[in-house]
Amino acid sequence: MSTQVASERTQSPAHLVDAESTYCKGWWIHALDRVDSTSTIAATLPAWQAVRANTQSAGRGRTGRQWISDQGGLWLSAVLPCEIDQPGWQYLPLAVGWSLANALSELGVRGLRLRWPNDLMVGRRKLAGVLVERFNRHTAVVGVGINVSNTPEVLDPRLFGTTTRLEELIPEVGSWDELTVFFLSSLRRAHEQLEREGFSAIAHELNTRWTEPRQVELTFSSGTSAVRGRFAGIDPRGALRLATDHGPEIYDATQVALLRELD
Ligand code: BTN
Repeated sequence: MSTQVASERTQSPAHLVDAESTYCKGWWIHALDRVDSTSTIAATLPAWQAVRANTQSAGRGRTGRQWISDQGGLWLSAVLPCEIDQPGWQYLPLAVGWSLANALSELGVRGLRLRWPNDLMVGRRKLAGVLVERFNRHTAVVGVGINVSNTPEVLDPRLFGTTTRLEELIPEVGSWDELTVFFLSSLRRAHEQLEREGFSAIAHELNTRWTEPRQVELTFSSGTSAVRGRFAGIDPRGALRLATDHGPEIYDATQVALLRELD
């Protein structure tokens, strides 16, 4: 892998002075030991920069949940150019999930599926999660958490039996640098495809290749009562299609706090 080590450390923002910074395949990558959240640091950086840390003390999950980020996981946040009024923005989280699914499958992970909107699952166990956040009008911060050899259930016993890790799924996991560059390259390709062709081909693939119809229960951010139905894929805008006893319904990711699979 060809990398260029940052020579001008003094020009780095204060929170990056301890970072090992390299340039590879179009990305500046800042590797740190312990941070609060890689996404909080990435929020201060321009597009095509990324932050990876060995551990996070305040990792964030979707809808304000805590994300346990123990040693042995890949905790990575990447800054993508993304104008707030650009249509691709609303599909970005799903496009990122799609890119991650492709990359993990290329690494040899079998039995992968996407649990809408952003969970990468192997069977019933979660391998990775994605959180896309905005901190300004011109970029989006894509946070990716992948279980590699870590054991989050040790810190939170409620996770027991619900997670899996890369080292259980493929014979050989590469170095942190290799994994990071691999996922960032896949992310860049997804971004290019979104810019070039829009979301329709990705939506089609998500529906045909990565999702399965299942009975689900949705809990809403607004606090309104939960709804049950059969997950019927996504619509062309990335919203969830639910087949209920009362007919088809559509929900977008901002409405849904939790999707629980019932079968
Ligand atoms: C989820 O499944 O709820 C999304 C989890 C996203 C976790 C990643 S780890 C790197 C980045 N930094 C964070 O604080 N969160 C994301």
